[in-house]
Amino acid sequence: RSKDIEVLRGHIRDIPDFPQKGIVFKDITPLLKDPETLILTSRLLLDPFKDEKVDLVAGIESRGFIFGTRLATDLNAGFVPVRKPNKLPAQKISVEYDLEYGTDQLEMHRDAISEGDRVIIHDDLMATGGSAKAAAELIKELGGVVIGYSFILELGFLNGRAKLEREIPVHSLIEI
Ligand code: PRP
Ligand code: MG
Repeated sequence: RSKDIEVLRGHIRDIPDFPQKGIVFKDITPLLKDPETLILTSRLLLDPFKDEKVDLVAGIESRGFIFGTRLATDLNAGFVPVRKPNKLPAQKISVEYDLEYGTDQLEMHRDAISEGDRVIIHDDLMATGGSAKAAAELIKELGGVVIGYSFILELGFLNGRAKLEREIPVHSLIEI
């Protein structure tokens, strides 16, 4: 497993000063392009949840959509998108949050979650934890139960975990 993680690590590249000066962007496109790391990533993301009863995976737009759907199908769960503002067509709820760079808003359809649904939040990366926290707030407001967080990468030095509820497990494949 630690060897697998090293392989993944080797397929994530640093892009300095993107999208703003001083930010080092973690680019997962090399990992997506290689068929072996593509499947390896989905396998490793499934691992911590494979014996859990999961109703839905909530993927955060846009990079959380890539593996979120795969994680959902692997768990026999459904997929619901957590979207950026003004993208969802039906009745929705919104929450505003701070991002690593700037502020933003996330939205979900009101009918995305049924009362008591067990939901995993997935995204490619946790930086400040603002997006993950916002997604959790939306899910809870709709009556869902967040049973875990799933990330490929976690920027540990930003301490995003501190923003999230302590009882809910956070599974990140790679911590930086
Ligand atoms: C990035 C990343 C996470 C979020 C993490 O998305 O994919 O979604 O930021 O930051 P946080 O933990 O500080 O909230 P971005 O907004 O760049 O958009 P994208 O996924 O559509 O590329
Ligand atoms: Mg994102």
